[in-house]
Amino acid sequence: MYTHYKSALILTFSFLLTACMESESGSTIHHSDNTNTHQNISTLDTELNQQIQARGLRGDPVKNTPPSIYAATSQLGKRLFFSKSLSGNRDTACVTCHHPLMGGGDNLSLPIGVDAVNPNLLGSQRRHKQGSPHHDGGPTVPRNAPTTFNIAAWEKTLFLDGRIEKVDNGIRTPEVDINTTDPRAGVNLVHAQARFPVTSPEEMKGFSHNDKNNQQIREFLAQRLGGYGAGAGQLPRTDYWLAKFRGVFGKPNASAQEVITEQNISFLLSEYQRSQLFMDSPWSRYVRGDKNAISNYVKAGAALFFKDQSKGGAGCARCHSGDFFTDEKFHNIGMPQIGRGKGDLDRDGEAIHDYGRYRETKNEADKFAFRTPTLLNVETTGPWGHAGAYTTLEAAVRHYINAQHAIDNYDWNQLKQPGLQNLDRMKRNTQEALDHDNFALKSQSLNDTEVDQLLAFLRSLTDPCTKSASCLSPWILYDNDTDQDPNGDQLIAIGLN
Ligand code: HEC
Ligand code: HEC
Repeated sequence: MYTHYKSALILTFSFLLTACMESESGSTIHHSDNTNTHQNISTLDTELNQQIQARGLRGDPVKNTPPSIYAATSQLGKRLFFSKSLSGNRDTACVTCHHPLMGGGDNLSLPIGVDAVNPNLLGSQRRHKQGSPHHDGGPTVPRNAPTTFNIAAWEKTLFLDGRIEKVDNGIRTPEVDINTTDPRAGVNLVHAQARFPVTSPEEMKGFSHNDKNNQQIREFLAQRLGGYGAGAGQLPRTDYWLAKFRGVFGKPNASAQEVITEQNISFLLSEYQRSQLFMDSPWSRYVRGDKNAISNYVKAGAALFFKDQSKGGAGCARCHSGDFFTDEKFHNIGMPQIGRGKGDLDRDGEAIHDYGRYRETKNEADKFAFRTPTLLNVETTGPWGHAGAYTTLEAAVRHYINAQHAIDNYDWNQLKQPGLQNLDRMKRNTQEALDHDNFALKSQSLNDTEVDQLLAFLRSLTDPCTKSASCLSPWILYDNDTDQDPNGDQLIAIGLN
C-alpha cells in the first residue's frame, strides 16, 4: 500500500531536500563525505542489502488499505478533528495536540489541552491559564503527544502503554479487563482510540463535566453536534453537521439521532487519521532499489543502526525493527521521567510516577516499559521520549551511549516549557527505572562521527511531504475555507511558522 496522490514531482523534490537536509544537519560535528572510495560504497550496499533481505524489508509498512484524504469520510473526519465542539467546554480539538504542520504532534514536551490562555495558540508558546484549582501554569497531560502520521501502520497496539490493543477476537480498550474484547471498540485500532481523548479531563473533557462517565460524555458531545437530547440548543447551527453526516453515510432522511452518534464521530476521526500516510522517504526508496537515494554517510549510519552491538553495530533494530521501525513491544530504556506522571507512587510515596506498560499488565517485567516508537519522520516529531524530555534528536540518540550518564548529566535547560517537575525529582524517578531488573540497554561507545551518521540515517526516514505546508494542505483546515463551521468552533491555529 504505497502510493497515494503524491507524484513523481514530489520524488524529485524529496531528492533535492535530502541533499539539503544533510548539509543543514543540526549537529555541530563537521564531517566530510568524500572519504568513501568506490570499494566502500559497494561494501556498504552489500552489507545493507543483506540486512534488507534478512529482515524482509520492503520500504512500505502498511498492509491494509487506508482511505484517501479526498474520500468523503476523511474530509468530514478532518472537520471533526479540527472542531472544538468535541471538547467539554469548546476550547480544545484533536488538532490542538496533533497538528499536521507539527509532524502530527504539538511540538511540546507535554501537552496543554483544556483551559489554555488562548485555545487557538498552538506550539511552544501555548500556556495554561493560571489560578484555577487544576492549573499552576504547567502542562497537565503527563505524556508526550505521539504523531498521528502513519497511524494506520500500527498492527497491535495504540497508546504508549498499549492500552488499546488487538486481542484474539477483537480489540481491548481500558474500559474492559486485560485480554478481553470491548464490544464498542469499533472497526480498527484507530477507531477504538478516537473514543478516548474526549474522556480525559486534561485533554478534552474539561473539569466541569465530572458528572458524566466516559460513555455519557461521548454521547453528550454527539448530542451537542446533532442538537438532540441533553445537547439540544448548545450549538446554533446543527443543520451544518446534519447535512454532512447524512451525505457521508448516504442517509438523506436520517434524523440527527440516527446518524450523528459517538460511533460515527469516532469512525470519521479515524478515517481522517488513517489517510495520513507519510512514508515516502529517501530510505524507503533505497530499500525499493534506488541505490542513489541516500548518501554513503547515511548508508554508514544505516549499517550501524541495523548491526547488532555484539558485531560492532549500535543494535537499534533489535527493537526498532521492520519497515515501521518498531516491534510494537514494550521496553524499559530509562528515558527521563518529567512532568506530573500518571499518579503512580515513586520511592518517596508521592503519586507522580509513570509505570508505563505495568499499569495495564501489573507485571513487574513491564514496569517503566513504554512501546517502541516508530522512527518514520522522527526528525519532525520532537520533543522525544514518552515525556518529551529530550528536545534535540541528538540528545535522544546519545541516551543510547550510556543511559546512566545521560540521566546524571541531563541538561535541564533544554526544556522550553515552564512548570515541569524539578530536576532532582526527575533523577530520582528515572533512577528507579535504570535500577529495575528489566532495564533493556547495554552501554556502548559511539564516537561523534557515528552519532552523526545515526542522525543522518534517522533524517533519511523523513517523508519530505511532512515538511511542506503545500503538500500537507489537503489535511489542514484554513480560515479561508468556504464551508467553515458556522458555529465558530473550527480551530484555526495561530503560532505556527
Ligand atoms: C491535550 C492533547 C491531546 C488532545 C487534545 C488529543 N490528543 Fe491524542 N494523544 C495525546 C497524548 C498525550 C497521547 C499519548 C497518551 C498515552 O499514550 O498515554 C495521545 C495519543 C493519541 C493516539 C495514539 C498514538 C499512538 O502512537 O499510539 C492517537 C491516534 C490520538 N492521540 C488521536 C487523537 C484524537 C483522534 C483526538 C481527538 C478526539 C486526540 N488525539 C486529542 C494528546 C492529545
Ligand atoms: C531495547 C529496545 C530499544 C533499542 C535497542 C533501541 N531503542 Fe530507541 N526506543 C525504544 C523505546 C521503548 C523508546 C521509547 C521509550 C520511552 O519513551 O520511554 C525508544 C525511543 C527512541 C527515540 C525517540 C523517539 C520518539 O518518538 O520519542 C529515538 C530517536 C530512538 N529510540 C532511536 C534509537 C536508536 C538510534 C537506537 C540505537 C542506537 C535505538 N533507538 C535503540 C526502544 C529501543
